[in-house]
Amino acid sequence: MRTVPADIPRPPYAETGDVPRRREDVVKDADTIERMRRAGRAAAEVLELGAALIAPGVTTDEIDAAVHEAYIARGGYPSTLNYRGYPKSLCTSVNEVICHGIPDDRALRDGDIVNLDVTIFLDGVHGDTNATYAVGDVPEPARRLIDVTGECLDLGIAAVAPGRPFSDIGRAIETHAEANGYEVVRAFVGHGIGEQFHTDLQIPHYYEPRLTRVMEPGMTFTIEPMISIGSGMHRIWPDDWTAVTADGTPCAQFEHTLVVTEDGAEILTLPAGH
Ligand code: MF3
Ligand code: CO
Ligand code: CO
Repeated sequence: MRTVPADIPRPPYAETGDVPRRREDVVKDADTIERMRRAGRAAAEVLELGAALIAPGVTTDEIDAAVHEAYIARGGYPSTLNYRGYPKSLCTSVNEVICHGIPDDRALRDGDIVNLDVTIFLDGVHGDTNATYAVGDVPEPARRLIDVTGECLDLGIAAVAPGRPFSDIGRAIETHAEANGYEVVRAFVGHGIGEQFHTDLQIPHYYEPRLTRVMEPGMTFTIEPMISIGSGMHRIWPDDWTAVTADGTPCAQFEHTLVVTEDGAEILTLPAGH
């Protein structure tokens, strides 16, 4: 594992890999939301920096190295590093990898798609964002998958408003994915986030009618749909992390961290100036 300077504040699992569970209000106070704005903006900037390196011939480990330094330059800790023992500073998920791909020495190839998932721990809170990119010349089916998956995230965010049930988010995403002939991955969901990377609030990306709880101003969580061209079922590699589609077809994902406002959602993981 890469090292982080001792003066950078780290989450409680950084030394041991064990993630302590404590209760955390889903509705955040103004100070916490302000800290999450800073962490979110930093995560977005680190993601942009990583994305700028994507090219045929570049290894995902080279991207990990650059991103690792970018967190540190902002005074942040790479939230994934030693999270339940996860060995790297971001997740890099190529082609049929759904999520939690581990950066390694495989070079990206012309025609790949790759998701970079960046999470920073800064000012005592986490900011979590990801996006899927084309490497060089990508065939039309996978390019269309990337576009539609981005639209799924946008539609999920558009369903966020106080008084609406959480199930509206997954319903909007699933409707758009299925209209395009794709399947939603059900095994991984969006999550509450704040002082902890993952709280027990879960945001499915499919319609779950039993999810009658309504959204309230100040709630913070991620939406991060994973959409497959083929099967939405998954397998886990023997590394115990890498999740791949059961049929080997490509999968794309986009993620933002957001806060519920008085009349909708504020995206926290946008770069400065957006
Ligand atoms: N960033 C991922 C998410 O969106 C979680 C990665 S946890 C790791 O929730 F341990 F796999 F890195
Ligand atoms: Co997340
Ligand atoms: Co993430």
